[in-house]
Amino acid sequence: MDARSSLPVSARRALPGLGSIARVVLGAMSFERLAPGGARASGEYDAVFDTALEAGLDAIDTAPLYGFGDSERIVGAWLKRSGARVSVLTKVGLVWDAPDAHGEVLFQTRDAAGRPIVVRRDSRPPSVLAEIERSRERLGLERLPLVQVHHRDRSVPIDETMGALVDAWRSKKVGAVGVSNYDAADLETAARAVERLSRGELRLSCTQGLYHLLARDVEREVHKVVRARSLGFLAFSPLAQGLLTGTMGPDRVVSDWRAGQPLFSDVNRRTIQSAIERELSPLARRHGVTVSALALAWVISREDVTAAIVGARDAAQLRGSLAALRLVSGDRAIDPRVLDRVGDAFSSLELATGRSPFAALRDRLFRRRGA
Ligand SMILES: NC(=O)c1ccc[n+]([C@@H]2O[C@H](COP(=O)([O-])OP(=O)(O)OC[C@H]3O[C@@H](n4cnc5c(N)ncnc54)[C@H](OP(=O)(O)O)[C@@H]3O)[C@@H](O)[C@H]2O)c1
Repeated sequence: MDARSSLPVSARRALPGLGSIARVVLGAMSFERLAPGGARASGEYDAVFDTALEAGLDAIDTAPLYGFGDSERIVGAWLKRSGARVSVLTKVGLVWDAPDAHGEVLFQTRDAAGRPIVVRRDSRPPSVLAEIERSRERLGLERLPLVQVHHRDRSVPIDETMGALVDAWRSKKVGAVGVSNYDAADLETAARAVERLSRGELRLSCTQGLYHLLARDVEREVHKVVRARSLGFLAFSPLAQGLLTGTMGPDRVVSDWRAGQPLFSDVNRRTIQSAIERELSPLARRHGVTVSALALAWVISREDVTAAIVGARDAAQLRGSLAALRLVSGDRAIDPRVLDRVGDAFSSLELATGRSPFAALRDRLFRRRGA
């Protein structure tokens, strides 16, 4: 099975080290949200995967952290069952499952059985190499198409971490290497390190960053490095974790972890919902698509974005969002100036925090580094 044939060239972009991929990547993080209180039948995951394949998607983003190994296991089991040829993008650097993990605690929680889980940043070479082995096992893949460092571990020099990734690439366990949530200076350092340590044989493929109509920080510095070094940029949470879908008005009861995020406050949700009704809903009706599709189309229409990684609770949601692909390619594409105006309208919104949870986390890290 090969999804690649069904999408026009204009719906694809080159990701260094992987070749051409669809401008939307399926995110497998919210699969843990798919299964509140326990695993769902594999058929429900299959419906999401099948919808992605039918739409021409050919890459899935996952991480060891998502569902504490479950996301990779679900993706691996589906790959085995279906024989689908997709690129799996996974990560290293956030460790909860090694007794000797070092480094800063990112967060603590409990597993389904109530046992404590401590998640630490750990980008030391032995830890990175051990994580790659565990991911190969969970995914059932000899070679991981792309491994990204999930978050920067400031106690480990970037060269050391990149050295481990280059070693894994040399031993053919990894096809391409990238980073995620790195600031512009660290991204530049990582890109240089990979070239130097591989003697010019390998380039850093890409970085992942939070990017959507309400979070545009990466445009200031990170995108400059992306452009200067011709890196890929993968935009995560393009629907602002549901805020940009038109279904997250203040009346909706949010009972999961999003409830505590500043961007999800009642006052912000009211402001965002009004902007959606003013700017996106009429456009969505005119083009016969969902609000989610328009929000996603804005992200993937940006020049510096290789692809957006979108999450979905079920196949119907994913189908709704994926109409974005026809808004940016083919005969029925939307006028790019219309999307630019949508971007302008959302960037002028006054939100009570103005900071996304991820930006707040990043601020905290920078303060710590400066201390
Ligand atoms: N590198 C990193 O640090 C990092 C961080 C975060 C995410 N990611 C990647 O990015 C991917 C996507 O991020 P995300 O799941 O946080 O955010 P997202 O794609 O912005 O939002 C997904 C959520 O929006 C809602 N939704 C999606 N489509 C919808 C539709 N058509 N109609 C109504 N609601 C819809 C669903 O939640 P409800 O139905 O529950 O409202 C869904 O779980 C992840 O799977 C992961 O691969 C990476």
